[in-house]
Amino acid sequence: MPEALPRVPATRATCEALDRDDPLAPLRQQFDLAPGTLYLDGNSLGALPAATAARVQDVVAREWGRGLIGSWNSAGWIHQPRRVGDKIAQLVGAEPGEVVASDTTSLNLYKVLEVALAMAREGDPARRVIVSERDNFPTDLYMAQSLARQHGCELRLVDGPERVADALDDRVAVLMLTHVNYRTGRMHPMADVTAAAHAKGALVVWDLAHSAGAVPLSLRASDADFAVGCGYKYLNGGPGAPAFVWVHSRHLARMDAEQRWQPLSGWMGHAAPFEFTTDYHPAAGIARFTCGTPSPLALAALECGIDTVLAAQPLGGMEALRRKSLALADLFIALVDQRCAGHGLSLQTPREPALRGSQVSFLREEGAYAIIQALIARGVVGDYREPGILRFGLTPLTLRYVDVWDAVDHLSQVLETREWKQARFQSRASVT
Ligand SMILES: Cc1ncc(COP(=O)(O)O)c(C=O)c1O
Repeated sequence: MPEALPRVPATRATCEALDRDDPLAPLRQQFDLAPGTLYLDGNSLGALPAATAARVQDVVAREWGRGLIGSWNSAGWIHQPRRVGDKIAQLVGAEPGEVVASDTTSLNLYKVLEVALAMAREGDPARRVIVSERDNFPTDLYMAQSLARQHGCELRLVDGPERVADALDDRVAVLMLTHVNYRTGRMHPMADVTAAAHAKGALVVWDLAHSAGAVPLSLRASDADFAVGCGYKYLNGGPGAPAFVWVHSRHLARMDAEQRWQPLSGWMGHAAPFEFTTDYHPAAGIARFTCGTPSPLALAALECGIDTVLAAQPLGGMEALRRKSLALADLFIALVDQRCAGHGLSLQTPREPALRGSQVSFLREEGAYAIIQALIARGVVGDYREPGILRFGLTPLTLRYVDVWDAVDHLSQVLETREWKQARFQSRASVT
């Protein structure tokens, strides 16, 4: 990879040269990519790893078909959530035994937010506020609203990341933030924000849906408290893949010592599920954060996806992926500046590399949804988010510089020709 990208490569050939020099280029071969498609939506659903179909087929035919129920032991299905969790730990700067792959991001958020609230309020019952951003992903806000109702707490929402620090006072129990904003791609400085919350006596819950596998993370070094994240985005685990939950081992130790529960006290988080006792006793450590029966099929697919990210380790790991992700985004932004000027696209993602994740978003007052549909019809897949946001995920595992060039080329043509005005691009599908 070159040390510095030219601000705007003069030609497509310049991008081809960047790809020839890219040491991460071989990682793309790990994927079964749709021919003729430029996929800029790995931030929503990661691409299909080439290994997944055969691995899932093996779990179906051999482990399930022949091993039948014995595979819970012989194929290690029962240990998969912890084993896969330990792989995720390597990508998020956590220790082995601190992460478990389980349930959905929403459910995991509910678990850790309730635990964090309870811990903070036991320390000081006057703490009854959860702080978050109004622009946080809705499921996070909905889960917090439910807990706030049940516990008589207040959900205090701030407008914009710069307002977070001001909202922290001695009534705040928990600060709950999504590390990289799903709309804008703006990233919070995790260590600084965590330190600011701790200074006010609050605990911090991070949603890493748009961070895990996208940016280098150091949960332990940042001194965070709790985190959740998504398996189907940058971890390439497949549609509806299990999510993950991380708890700092200082809190796990406290939970062990105090025999604390998490609220979704299902049998898989019991200390001895196969003793079938009447009463719940939480398992030790992170295992208590599981709930019901895990899906070996889904976890096998998730593991294949995580392995595609871990495969970057010999090539510089997340730091190397980050360098390429930023270079792709710089290129995307520079090309849109140059080639789509005057078409009403306003960049929502910070230009400052340290402030962004691995996506680039633009606001357009009119026709944003239709523009995305016109691009998809040309084989350039991005997505649309309310209100008027065109979102492009830049996943360095699969994307080439030349793909960015071609994607912006299509975007400029869609805008120039007003192709997006066609009736077929106007009707809204269920998923945008
Ligand atoms: C920040 C964030 N949190 C959570 C979710 C989704 O959670 P779940 O997997 O429970 O649907 C998303 C989905 O895009 C997201 O962007």
